[in-house]
Amino acid sequence: MIGLPDFPWDRLTPLKQLAASHPDGIVDLSVGTPVDPVPAVVRQALADASDSPGYPLTYGTERLRSAAAGWLRRRHGVEVDQANVLPLIGSKEFVAWLPTFLGVGQGQRVVFPELAYPTYDVGARLAGAEPYATDGLLALGPERVPLVWVNSPSNPTGKVLPADHLRKVVSWARERGAVVASDECYIELGWEEQPVSILHPDVCGGSHEGLLAVHSLSKRSNLAGYRAGFVAGDPALVRRLLEIRKHAGMIMPGPVQAAMAVALDDDEHAEEQRARYAARRAALRPALEAAGWKIEHSTAGLYLWASNGAGCWDQVRALAEKGILVAPGDFYGEAGGLHVRIAVTADDERIGAAVRRLQ
Ligand SMILES: Cc1ncc(COP(=O)(O)O)c(C=O)c1O
Repeated sequence: MIGLPDFPWDRLTPLKQLAASHPDGIVDLSVGTPVDPVPAVVRQALADASDSPGYPLTYGTERLRSAAAGWLRRRHGVEVDQANVLPLIGSKEFVAWLPTFLGVGQGQRVVFPELAYPTYDVGARLAGAEPYATDGLLALGPERVPLVWVNSPSNPTGKVLPADHLRKVVSWARERGAVVASDECYIELGWEEQPVSILHPDVCGGSHEGLLAVHSLSKRSNLAGYRAGFVAGDPALVRRLLEIRKHAGMIMPGPVQAAMAVALDDDEHAEEQRARYAARRAALRPALEAAGWKIEHSTAGLYLWASNGAGCWDQVRALAEKGILVAPGDFYGEAGGLHVRIAVTADDERIGAAVRRLQ
């Protein structure tokens, strides 16, 4: 069997129980799962497509791919032909399997940020490759690596990588024949800074060669339960990935394809959702600061990356004693040992409760 690390969230269970013992109930700001309704237009589209007896295409419908390409153009200034879009069953499966699909293996390193979503590491291990967490590509010297992940806005830090930084990553990777996969699942949630896609001409110079942008509808449209995402970019890579996914049966259900196309076409619900998160963030951030936490990065995305100077597990405990559950920074890498990640994903009532408890 492939050896993988213990599932980190299991380690939080005792502190979740502590937070849940608060007389007014737990405020769970740990996992970052959406809590607001699935937009009505999307639910209607799912229902309308529910008579779906036949096999859907792994490639998805042209309607879906065109909606994805249209959204990238309209919202992010990215020109992608619909032929170079591939639906994903949520973006997590793709993060976990991309190294395997690319044929990365033993003796090769998959590079991802020092503080990162744990699935980049898992994906390297599933492929039998070596996970390598670093923010400094120069540390690799002349080594050729097959795959570099970037994630802007970042989970967990909410840091945004500016276009000139991404441009350097792209040129470094192109010199070495590395694929750059950019996890852009929080790209619609820019606050003090606006994230830019790896496929934007200011970053890639107009060519998508060697580049893949990974997107998710989980946070933009509250579709975490539908499992809806897509990857777009280098035509040759997308074609190869499609062939493998066809063989492996990685097919997005037809009704979800229909619902996702409608979600991508509609910006109104996404703006409403953004406003909800903005309000929760505006309430929570000063309350944490007044209670002694310093917020770092966090200029975009769904999380506040915070520290009061203590070890991360002591901080998690201090907040759990107030009935507030957050994630320890070391879930995301050793460099997170003095931080906690606080998701702004609770409803307004629960965020209000957290603010009162922090006073
Ligand atoms: C950085 C990052 N990538 C990918 C995902 C996976 O999202 P999904 O599988 O719901 O599209 C998440 C989920 O939180 C994430 O934080």
